[in-house]
Amino acid sequence: MSRPTTDPGSGSATRAGRVGPILTVTVNPALDLSTSTEQVVSGHKLRCGPSRLDPGGGGVNVARVVRRLGGSALALHTAGGAAGEAYRRLLEAERVPTVVVPIRGETRENVTVDETSTGRQFRFVLQGPELATEEWQSCLEAVTETVPAGGFVVASGSLPPGVPEDFYARIARTAREHGARCVVDASGPALAAALAEGVFLVKPSRRELEAHVGATLDSEARQVEAAAALVADGSAEHVALTLGEAGAVLASRSGVERLAVPPVRVVSTVGAGDSFLGAFVLRLSQGRSPAAALRAAVAAGSATAMTPATELCHRADVERLEHELLETAGR
Ligand SMILES: Nc1ncnc2c1ncn2[C@@H]1O[C@H](COP(=O)(O)OP(=O)(O)OP(=O)(O)O)[C@@H](O)[C@H]1O
Ligand SMILES: [Mg+2]
Repeated sequence: MSRPTTDPGSGSATRAGRVGPILTVTVNPALDLSTSTEQVVSGHKLRCGPSRLDPGGGGVNVARVVRRLGGSALALHTAGGAAGEAYRRLLEAERVPTVVVPIRGETRENVTVDETSTGRQFRFVLQGPELATEEWQSCLEAVTETVPAGGFVVASGSLPPGVPEDFYARIARTAREHGARCVVDASGPALAAALAEGVFLVKPSRRELEAHVGATLDSEARQVEAAAALVADGSAEHVALTLGEAGAVLASRSGVERLAVPPVRVVSTVGAGDSFLGAFVLRLSQGRSPAAALRAAVAAGSATAMTPATELCHRADVERLEHELLETAGR
């Protein structure tokens, strides 16, 4: 099978370690198609408004947010078929440097439809093509070749069929062996396996942490307790538990902080979690404290909630909200 290819994006370098200290891994990327229609009903043709295409998927979105906020991250992703080609071109247009692992299957497409008469949003998320053993192994080899020593490896998003549940756990081990910090945003068995291996940072949403611990986290005390427990048992050095409109909790060995969201007009929360993570890791990579990273992360998540459909945050909004959160904290 063919070897992974690098696309340096803005042309700064061809290898991860030299591009920047952040590598993101997306084994199940998706071409995100978003559009709108007046009302979603069965049995009729639903005439849609203008559509847009975005190169989505957890890790790639993290890299796109890092770039939007003025940083640089190398995005390692699989790509296959015509959708995979379109995906590559979209990332190239955004000047995100990439390492592409070719696959035989077709890169999946997700569809988001905004219902204009009600403001409801419908999201159809496809499972993705099955990966052959040598394809996911090529991804792991590409991670080993590009892991930035002293930097961050962000493993984010769902695993497509064929990929073993310990895929992120293996990445966590590789990162540690190369002196990099592993960041994981996953759910279910992939999350559990990564935590059993031990990671630097994990970013579950409330729903994901509830599924992991098998309990409802409906009070602040329960949320803090569940996040702190993962730090105490060595699963993660930092746990950023995101709570949607209720903000986020950050648990580390030095304690727990909670941050509420700044007041924003919410339009679409697609990509909010990825934006949270992108800003968090970028600020850490810039040498900022976990508390400062948390402010930037909540600001970026909420800034993405302000933008329509799959659109990610804008830098000016993030910096304004980050400043607002700092002012509020100082009071
Ligand atoms: N309704 C909202 N209003 C303001 N900010 C929001 C809203 N929803 C999300 N955010 C911001 O985005 C961050 C991440 O959101 P959330 O907890 O929903 O994670 P997620 O990863 O997008 O969720 P999931 O993976 O379960 O879909 C929040 O911490 C917050 O900063
Ligand atoms: Mg999420």
